[in-house]
Amino acid sequence: MLTPLNLALPPTIDMSITLKTPEEIEKMRIAGKLAANVLEMIAEYVVAGVTTDELDQRCHDFMVNQQKTVPAPLNYHGFPKSICTSVNNQVCHGIPNHKKLKKGDIINIDITVIKDEFHGDTSEMFVVSEPSILAKRLIDTTQKALYLGISMVKPGAKLGDIGHAIQTFAESKRYSIVREYCGHGIGRVFHEEPQVLHYGKADTGVVLEEGMTFTIEPMVNAGKRHVKVLPDDWTVVTKDRSLSAQFEHTLTVTSTGFEIFTLRNNETIEPTYISPEYFQS
Ligand code: MF3
Ligand code: CO
Ligand code: CO
Repeated sequence: MLTPLNLALPPTIDMSITLKTPEEIEKMRIAGKLAANVLEMIAEYVVAGVTTDELDQRCHDFMVNQQKTVPAPLNYHGFPKSICTSVNNQVCHGIPNHKKLKKGDIINIDITVIKDEFHGDTSEMFVVSEPSILAKRLIDTTQKALYLGISMVKPGAKLGDIGHAIQTFAESKRYSIVREYCGHGIGRVFHEEPQVLHYGKADTGVVLEEGMTFTIEPMVNAGKRHVKVLPDDWTVVTKDRSLSAQFEHTLTVTSTGFEIFTLRNNETIEPTYISPEYFQS
């Protein structure tokens, strides 16, 4: 989330990167798992005829009543709902509403929970009934781009390595990367330093250290990269109305690489996923 090139924050805000202690990492692990559990719970309800308001309500009730978590988006800078639902040409920050999903729609559901003061932030694409071949290819490429970005994470690597890997891969498939919104540090604060761009140059930017916690959340457009914000002041859409997809995970840098906090039960990042052959398909 949020405009990487135009951060306008008061100078009193401490913009340094916080390294988390093992106790804080354990709390992030719990928050991350809970966020993933919301996506697992809602999957079966993403069907033709359901409204995004209904999905929001179901997630809200699950978070508040079952998990005893706080839905972080609700009232965040005035956001009116508990989850973000971004359909088809919507890139991110879509507001749940009364419209029904229909066959062939693609939808990103973005969940952020707070548990024991810490945030877990994750999103996934769903397809309503049969995806078109085009939509399926876009979604697959976006998820692979996220995994490829994650695979760069280890102490001593740089943030630019992540952005470069994601951009190069998506553009090799003739898709484009949205530049106005980025991943972010996360912890007690929803959006903190550093900003994790999904494009850029290898071997540039912040050097990764054990204990950093951040999200990677590439937004990939089937058409041109340009976006605009709708008059509701939230929903980001592609300017050329092309389809857009996004996946997001919250993770930490470990002594040897990374640990993903928001991995879903049926989601395995095989070592082969990060091999060059995998990313050619
Ligand atoms: N979950 C989004 C992110 O990945 C942020 C949503 S902010 C909201 O950073 F206000 F739109 F909910
Ligand atoms: Co995020
Ligand atoms: Co998110």
